[in-house]
Amino acid sequence: MHASIGRVRPAGPEDAPACAAIYRPYVLDTAISWELEVPTVDEMAARITAARQTHEWLVLEHDDRVIGYAYGHALYRVASYQWSAQTGIYVDADHHRTGGGRELYTQLLRRLAERGYRRAVAGITQPNAASNGFHRSFGFTEAGLYRRVEWKLGSWHDVAWMQLDLLGDADRGAPAGPIT
Ligand SMILES: CC(C)(COP(=O)(O)OP(=O)(O)OC[C@H]1O[C@@H](n2cnc3c(N)ncnc32)[C@H](O)[C@@H]1OP(=O)(O)O)[C@@H](O)C(=O)NCCC(=O)NCCS
Repeated sequence: MHASIGRVRPAGPEDAPACAAIYRPYVLDTAISWELEVPTVDEMAARITAARQTHEWLVLEHDDRVIGYAYGHALYRVASYQWSAQTGIYVDADHHRTGGGRELYTQLLRRLAERGYRRAVAGITQPNAASNGFHRSFGFTEAGLYRRVEWKLGSWHDVAWMQLDLLGDADRGAPAGPIT
């Protein structure tokens, strides 16, 4: 296991340019992101603000520069799903496998659990050995496979879903109450 290479902190709208720049190659050059267009800085700022209100959005800083981020948002916008969060994470390719992703997700999952969320769910376009291994390393387990749901870069892509019980063995019975 690596020591983290940076410092994790909650994001603000002022982090939108850096987050958009990190996200850009994953949108344009890969099927990892399901989006076809890079979000504008204003759109990214709006996503950060919304995620901070309901879930969380964290950034990873290294040498005073944001090199990664992780966030949660609603898995599905219906009341009965309110305790299930979908998570996402993007680390700049120059800094992979240096422990930054682990630090981001450790703090994200802790924060989601503190707010009352019970399930974290991630959708991972296949193949993605790094993300599959990363999520397994946190105890996420396979929940299913959506076949050929994503058309991008000239082909269909499968999306694997993985999920984690945020309270672990303490996860018993009904939710304690609404999300805070
Ligand atoms: C997935 C991602 C966020 C991991 O972040 P990272 O900072 O590189 O990961 P870390 O260094 O913190 O690794 C933590 C653990 O994850 C697992 N892991 C990370 N990269 C891996 C790889 N390439 N293959 C297998 N397991 C891997 C390992 O268990 C690792 O622990 P170890 O290094 O002690 O063995 C990063 O690869 C990334 O940004 N990928 C592109 C975007 C993406 O796929 N996001 C997820 C979309 S679902």
